[in-house]
Amino acid sequence: MYTIDLKGKVGLVTGIVNKYSIALHIARKLHEAGMELYVTYANPDLRERVEEVIPGLDPLGLFECDVQKEDMVKAVFEEIRKKHDTIHTLVHSVAYAPREELGGSFVETTTRQGFLTALDVSSYSLISLTRQAAPLMNEGGSIIAMSYIAAQTVIPGYNVMAIAKSALENIIRYLAYELGSKNIRVNGISAGPVNTLSARGIKGVTTMLKVYPEKAPLKRNITADEVGDAALFLLSPMSSAVTGEVLFVDAGYHIVGM
Ligand SMILES: NC(=O)c1ccc[n+]([C@@H]2O[C@H](COP(=O)([O-])OP(=O)(O)OC[C@H]3O[C@@H](n4cnc5c(N)ncnc54)[C@H](O)[C@@H]3O)[C@@H](O)[C@H]2O)c1
Repeated sequence: MYTIDLKGKVGLVTGIVNKYSIALHIARKLHEAGMELYVTYANPDLRERVEEVIPGLDPLGLFECDVQKEDMVKAVFEEIRKKHDTIHTLVHSVAYAPREELGGSFVETTTRQGFLTALDVSSYSLISLTRQAAPLMNEGGSIIAMSYIAAQTVIPGYNVMAIAKSALENIIRYLAYELGSKNIRVNGISAGPVNTLSARGIKGVTTMLKVYPEKAPLKRNITADEVGDAALFLLSPMSSAVTGEVLFVDAGYHIVGM
């Protein structure tokens, strides 16, 4: 049997806020495979909440990192560099859009500021985190970011976040193209709906969770644990020739036309 052994590898996981976070499920899989992890959280108010759910991960460090603040992004990697000259993995699992931007009429409710905020947090942040992470990936590396099918087809109500995911998927391709020569791979996972804090901000998530078991080939919803398994694949040598890809982990929903 082939086992994925990531002992001796070091990674950074962003986007854990509570026990439902997809990032936590990814982090658990990486930890079980032997990877040592740094973890970030978005703001000081969340630290305690995050501390409660990560003890099993035994992280090397827990740092505040609001991805809208470039200095904070840089500071995280300066902290990491104090202990490690090399990292192997970056998990981008961060997204945000103001609640008023989600649901309702796309054309009427999408504001300039909401658009900029959504793309700053949910898309640009992959560029800024990668800019800092790549120099530390001197043995090659693997980066993943979390997307959703609304990047490619219309999901009513997902609105500006869909635009952010489209940008994210193209950023994945540009980063993969540029960093390939350093053996740094960049991929995305397009997950089916999972009931998390962010998902609850999307009007219509309850409908999404009902539609997948009816329409998806596997006739069910997915779990965050299954996203963790796919992430483990993309972050391990098992996927050594895969880059610039967006892997659907959605029970096959994306192949169904009607
Ligand atoms: N849950 C789903 O149905 C689903 C489906 C497809 C893709 N995704 C994506 O998965 C990723 C993780 O979301 P989740 O569903 O686990 O929800 P979540 O709420 O657990 O995670 C979202 C994270 O983004 C962080 N964040 C928001 N603004 C930030 C900022 N300025 N700086 C740093 N961090 C910030 C939050 O603190 C939180 O940890 C997101 O990219 C989301 O769009 C989720």
